[in-house]
Parts: sequence; structure tokens; C-alpha cells
Amino acid sequence: MSARVIAIDGPAAAGKGTLARRLAAHLGLPYLDTGLLYRAVARHLLDAGHLPSDPREAVAAAIRLQPTDLERTDLRTPEVDRAAAAVAAIPGVRAALLEFQRGFGSAHGAVLDGRDIGTIIFPEAAAKFFVTASVEARAERRWKELQQKGVATDLQSVLDDMKARDAADESRAAAPLVPANDAIILDTTHMDAGQAFAAALHALEKTVLFFRKEHPLRRQECERTRGTAPGPSSQGFTASCRHRGTG
Ligand code: C5P
Repeated sequence: MSARVIAIDGPAAAGKGTLARRLAAHLGLPYLDTGLLYRAVARHLLDAGHLPSDPREAVAAAIRLQPTDLERTDLRTPEVDRAAAAVAAIPGVRAALLEFQRGFGSAHGAVLDGRDIGTIIFPEAAAKFFVTASVEARAERRWKELQQKGVATDLQSVLDDMKARDAADESRAAAPLVPANDAIILDTTHMDAGQAFAAALHALEKTVLFFRKEHPLRRQECERTRGTAPGPSSQGFTASCRHRGTG
């Protein structure tokens, strides 16, 4: 088992990113938004004037990808949304990005979100969530985000794009978007971010031995960190001990 890896998968705008960031901060684990990898590859191809569906160029861009590419501020446009889904269907691209993701999670544990974290990247993750919501709710969230960023678009085209991207992610042969058999399904259609976080935390403590406060390793860590300054520990669950007042 990948002891301290939490896998969070699901379709676009279901709330995976927000949940993953909050869980990572709470547990003191690093966080990786794996969608950024596919977005950065897509951005390179668009900048160079190549088609995102060009396998040769896409694989070459994936192999050359640098961690700093993930920091670009132009990775979340509707154009990149579409191009990323095309790039992600190319098996060679997925193969080129696999080791980076495994390396990231294996070093110190991590929370990773994406489409295939629980099925392909970390099938042995300690906990897996499949975060979903109705396509209408997701489109409305994404439309509001775009409005806040000043991107002029209408709700119907965001909904159409989202349906097309869902279909592409679910139907591709390479690592299609499906919940892992052992994933906890979290439907956030009628939840805000706080409710989704509380539900996920509750599920972790109920189902995953490692995250339960009576687990010997966790108790040891809580005792070790008793009275020290707040913040993530090397073991990755100091914040969690404190939160429930056990540390
Ligand atoms: O999560 P995000 O919407 O940023 O991902 C962009 C695209 O990257 C997705 O539509 C999907 O096609 C692809 N992706 C993937 N596998 C992942 C993460 C993202 O195929 N683990």
C-alpha cells in the first residue's frame, strides 16, 4: 500500500482541486494537480502551432516538460481545456508523465488529483475518492469562475464544452475516467467546499486505518509533536492530530 497517498479523481469542476488542497494542508502532505501536466503539454503544442492530437509532437513535449512549466498562468483557458483532453488521450503522453507523478507521491506521501490516480498511478493508494457532481452544477461553477476572471462566455457553451470533455475523458482507450473499485464516491452537487471537506475527512477516519486517531503510528506522531508549533510534520499528520485536539 502507498501508505500516505490520497488519490482524488473525477470529472472537471467537481471540486477535486479544492478538496485535494484542503486535505493536503490538513494532513501536512504535498499536493499535485496532475491536470496541470496535461495542460502544460497542451500549452506547448498550441504555442508551437502543433495540433494537440499530434502524437509525435505531444510525446516530445511531455518528455521535455519541466516542473516550472506548471507555474504558467495561461493554463486554464477554454482553449487549453480542450487541447489538454486531446493530449491526454495519447498513450505515449500518459506514459511519459507517469513516473513524475509516481515519484512525487512516493517520496513523502501526497494528495494527487486527476482522472486516473486511483486506477493507474497509485492503485495502492491509502485512500481513494471519486468526486463528482451533475454536469449542470459543474458547468455553472466553471462559468462563474470564468466570469470572475473576466473571460466572456455563456453558460450553454461552457456546458457543451464540459459534456464534450467528459465524453472524451470517459471514452478514451488509455486510462479512461472511471472510479476505482475501492474509491469512496463523493457527489458534491448539493455541497459547498466545506461540506465536501468534512465528508471526505469523515470517510477517511471511518474507513482508513492509518488516518484513525487510535492507529499506533498516528498516536505516536501526535505524542511526538505535542506542544510544538503548528505546521506540517515530516510524518504528514501533525495538523490532523491538533485539529481534533488529540495532540
Ligand atoms: O483536471 P483538469 O481539468 O485540469 O485536467 C485537464 C485535462 O487533463 C482533463 O480533461 C483530462 O483530459 C486530462 N487529465 C487526465 N489525467 C489526469 C489529469 C488530467 O487525463 N490525471
